Amino acid sequence: MIVLVTGGAGYIGSHTCVELINAGHTPIVIDNLRNSNPKSLERVKDITGQAVTFYEGDVRDEALLEKIFDAHEIDCAIHFAGLKAVGESCAIPLEYYQNNLCSTMTLCKVMAQRGVKRIIFSSSATVYSAENEMPLRESSKTGNCTNPYGWTKYMGEQILRDIAKADPEWSVVLLRYFNPVGAHESGKIGEHPNGIPNNLMPYISQTAIGKREKLSVFGNDYATHDGTGVRDYIHVVDLARGHVAAMDYLCSHKGEGVFNLGTGTGYSVLDMVKAFETANGVKVPFVIAPRRPGDLDTCYADPAKSAQILHWQATHDQNDMCRDSWNWQSQNPNGYDD
Ligand code: NAD
Ligand code: UD1
Repeated sequence: MIVLVTGGAGYIGSHTCVELINAGHTPIVIDNLRNSNPKSLERVKDITGQAVTFYEGDVRDEALLEKIFDAHEIDCAIHFAGLKAVGESCAIPLEYYQNNLCSTMTLCKVMAQRGVKRIIFSSSATVYSAENEMPLRESSKTGNCTNPYGWTKYMGEQILRDIAKADPEWSVVLLRYFNPVGAHESGKIGEHPNGIPNNLMPYISQTAIGKREKLSVFGNDYATHDGTGVRDYIHVVDLARGHVAAMDYLCSHKGEGVFNLGTGTGYSVLDMVKAFETANGVKVPFVIAPRRPGDLDTCYADPAKSAQILHWQATHDQNDMCRDSWNWQSQNPNGYDD
């Protein structure tokens, strides 16, 4: 199938391009490079032997989308494009709502005009309300988001759900990612956050390589086995394969489907530090710091629905995640700028 991959030069998008190609599909990428480097797509070619057609531009640019739909017989879209930094979303909320919601609406408008009514949307575990018991199921309560980024995902889901409700020709899959980490095993593609990383794994690997002096562990008084926050880390290649699995579902079902993409296992911050040190024979100096506002003690998925209906489950373990994060970081200390 020919798949329009918005945000395909980014972290999850580039890994998904590899898995799409491996599965015999053809990705067509649109990305405005706001948070990515086109070298990622050159590396996708190095890995797969197949060049990726790339349009540099904004998903909110309706004329550009029309041009892309004219040029290719697109069968479905995977919509990764979006801004994703929680702190930044609190500082510039309007830009987040503008970017994340208008891109989704423009894309759906052009898709509907062209009769292409199949879309997979990058949602997040952040849409789940903090009141839920663990593990989180797709039926768990959503809403009460703590930041504009989370609300853009919540609203994005709602927009797509309403589109599917209004027109039974649409097929919409909402994928709620837990904590994507790791990199392709080749070390050629991975995550390269701009500036100081907000997320745990890039901070750990940048500390291990000496770019950061030490990791601050945000709180050791949570109600968890060692007092530090517990999350459901999922290898990005497993996550990417989840999209390929979701495509089969997308093409055989109409209406809306929502699925967790997680492993079902939670690890604490200190578990991840120790696993990273063991997997890679490196040291990750850390200090205990105050809690980060808005953090939960524990968050992990029940991935049973994805296993049952998408026939997908994660196959990479914690050691693979740590090994592949380090492989990417050590081969590309400055990301794609090297
Ligand atoms: P990323 O920043 O690496 O990729 C997003 C890509 O979208 C970037 O390449 C960026 O340049 C592009 N982009 C942003 N706005 C655009 C626009 N208007 N037009 C065209 N391109 C645009 O992020 P990622 O980690 O690969 O995340 C992909 C998607 O998954 C995002 O929607 C994100 O919110 C969601 N998500 C990510 C995580 C995570 O932890 N990485 C967790 C849950 C959900
Ligand atoms: C964060 C976002 C979430 C987003 C997800 C994407 C917040 C509040 N939530 O989730 O919306 O979908 O990233 O992956 O930002 N930690 C440290 N030190 C650090 C960084 C993190 O101790 O330098 C801890 C955190 O307190 C948390 C765990 O590591 O317990 C994971 O943090 P992070 O990688 O930022 O992910 P989330 O908070 O789960």
